[in-house]
Amino acid sequence: MFPTSQTDAPQTKPILVDRFGRHVTYLRISVTDRCDLRCVYCMAEKMQFVSHSQLLTLEEMVRIGQAFVDLGVTKIRISGGEPLVRRNILYLFRTLGVTPGLNDFTLTTNATQLPKFANDLKKAGVTRINISLDTLRQDRFRNITRNGDINNTLQGIEAAVATGFERLKINAVILKNHNHDEILDLVEYAVAHQIDISFIEEMPLGAISEHNRAETYFSSDQTFSVIRKHYELLPSMETTGGPSRYFRIPDLKTRIGFISPHSHNFCDSCNRVRLTAEGRLLLCLGQEHSVDLRQVVRSYPDDDEILRQTIIDSMAIKPKGHEFDLSKDPVITRHMNHTGG
Ligand code: GTP
Ligand code: 5AD
Ligand code: SF4
Repeated sequence: MFPTSQTDAPQTKPILVDRFGRHVTYLRISVTDRCDLRCVYCMAEKMQFVSHSQLLTLEEMVRIGQAFVDLGVTKIRISGGEPLVRRNILYLFRTLGVTPGLNDFTLTTNATQLPKFANDLKKAGVTRINISLDTLRQDRFRNITRNGDINNTLQGIEAAVATGFERLKINAVILKNHNHDEILDLVEYAVAHQIDISFIEEMPLGAISEHNRAETYFSSDQTFSVIRKHYELLPSMETTGGPSRYFRIPDLKTRIGFISPHSHNFCDSCNRVRLTAEGRLLLCLGQEHSVDLRQVVRSYPDDDEILRQTIIDSMAIKPKGHEFDLSKDPVITRHMNHTGG
């Protein structure tokens, strides 16, 4: 028998352990594959979105999220597409947010809806928010997001800061000859707002015609060198439970993170799995191994024991890690908006 989310029993030994001895304590839930932006590294120009009838309901997502917490997961991140465009999404935040044992309840968003939602998210128990922002220039923002308005995202960041969220973080995907000359500007923006920033190496998920991913590759080491010329960077042992390696700038609040799937593989310490909006449990971002949890929750609407056992059993197929090769067509045809990163 497993402790239920109602009992808040202390965990004695990890329950979700894979073949490589890695403990899964972090679940990412993609609540929709839709988005009000169309970032060029994330989606193709023309996308086929999942039909509404195929989506998990928000109630089903809460049920699955709570089952994971029963099994020792302490961190849940809500992602998309853009999670805040899903109808009635506050229900999910309010319901999952009060789950005993869930210590870190986080969100990844493009921030366009934050002026509307920031207050309610804080009240619902969201602990941290990561915001995607790759450029500070309106014209580039339009190009990268295929017609987004940067003011919406900047206003969203201001709203989140004003709401008093601790440890807001910007995620910036750096692409050579698109935004690599803005690395210092982005650091300065983060410093001015006293928030963190992570620089990300682009991953080859789904075919995209706009740019050649091998040509736009900009390594974390290159980004580090650019920043290091202007700031002292002290390595930090801090972790947010994700793949970012952090550095501190002396006397400043801002932490600088690097997410380096190509140059510093982090799969050995992987602690996470992903639930897609259709209820597919993906055991690795860079592989296709998955289990259909939608079928389980619909076949057994009142039996959480079967749901929990299915999740435990899924650990047996968690792959060792991703194998990305930017010089070839992507092996994974799924675009990033299906998993929200
Ligand atoms: P923190 O909770 O702040 O540590 O966030 P996080 O890095 O876990 O999540 P976020 O949504 O901010 O993701 C940032 C980037 O890290 C995205 O581009 C993700 O795709 C990438 N990322 C997160 N987990 C993995 C992973 O397991 N494998 C790979 N390859 N990339 C990942
Ligand atoms: N490679 C790396 N990061 C990506 N993101 C979206 N697509 C990609 C990709 N192909 C980032 C977004 C967001 C995070 C969840 O994932 O910018 O910050
Ligand atoms: Fe939308 Fe995020 Fe994908 Fe950009 S990266 S299109 S903001 S889901």
